[in-house]
Amino acid sequence: MQTTVLKVNPDSFEPSILYPVARALQRGELVAFPTETVYGLGAIYRDETALRRIFTTKGRPNDNPLIVHIWNLDQLTELVQEINTKFQKLIAAYWPGPLTLIFPKKPAVPDEITAGLPTVAVRMPSHPVARELLRLTGIPVAAPSANLSGKPSPTLGEHVMADLNGKIPWIIDAGPCNAGLESTVLMLDQAKPIILRPGFITREMLEEVLQEPVTVATGQTDRPSAPGMKYRHYAPEAPAILVMGSKDAIVSKINAILRQRREKERIAVIGSSENLSKYETELVLDMGSEHHLELAANRLYNLLRTCDRLKVDRILIEGVADHGIGAALINRLYKASGGNVINVT
Ligand code: TXA
Ligand code: MG
Repeated sequence: MQTTVLKVNPDSFEPSILYPVARALQRGELVAFPTETVYGLGAIYRDETALRRIFTTKGRPNDNPLIVHIWNLDQLTELVQEINTKFQKLIAAYWPGPLTLIFPKKPAVPDEITAGLPTVAVRMPSHPVARELLRLTGIPVAAPSANLSGKPSPTLGEHVMADLNGKIPWIIDAGPCNAGLESTVLMLDQAKPIILRPGFITREMLEEVLQEPVTVATGQTDRPSAPGMKYRHYAPEAPAILVMGSKDAIVSKINAILRQRREKERIAVIGSSENLSKYETELVLDMGSEHHLELAANRLYNLLRTCDRLKVDRILIEGVADHGIGAALINRLYKASGGNVINVT
């Protein structure tokens, strides 16, 4: 299949440039488009054939449900049974933005989207190109991240090209995504808020609006309400090890591992700017300052894909503080390393 790449400047574009892409979506074709979190692979929510094609194109397991993207609240009422007061508060505070909410679904939402669950995940992206595309399409768009299943999510048009060129008719390339990590996913369990996937809208930010404690679901112990959590995700090709602890202890441990490497073994270190010069290797990748974890979040997936391009044999990753945006980073690093974590003190 021939893929057309449409370059769009998100700060200044004519909406009409998106007409052919909106029409393709309406016809049931797949389109990769930018959002403020990561690039999405979209299809209109009510076309079952198109939805099934999302799964085959990505190689995604069928039991991992999709997020539906909307551009206004009228579209939300098309999809969900009710919007309780807690969700109303969160919507007022954080939509449009990187927060996905899990609602009881209306029957019109197909099982292909929800994997047979009685609930549907919905978010209203804030990216100007995503908003305009959704407005022009006029139908909510289901979209997982636009990567092959298991790979790091795409945060640049080039990443989408690398994974999906020749497999879909349209890719909209609007440059780098702002956040660089997928949206926060929140559900209510008997009215109690639970984060299924941490993101840029942090637990602290949710608690501030809800004025009550918010818990974070933890990996494997979780019930099937968080289906996506059981799969290998965001993984680079080489095995990765996440090293957690105090900064000095992390640096010593990583250097100790480097000193024991096999002859010709290429080990990349992903570390904070403050520590880069301390590592006993040339292959160091800069995650940004440990005081600006937003930057680390923004760079992470690109750094993991860089490790693939460099064909390294192993990756050692410096852990970060596990609160605020750091919680989202640790969550992705944990998955990228397949749970291969060394704790040092
Ligand atoms: O930032 C994002 O959310 C990006 C952009 C493209 O919007 N999308 C994204 O989609 O990350 P995806 O498919 O990679 O992740 C969707 C997550 C999965 O962890 C899935 O299990 C969860 O949302 N999810 C979807 N529907 C759900 C439901 N009804 N109940 C619980 N979890 C659900
Ligand atoms: Mg994904």
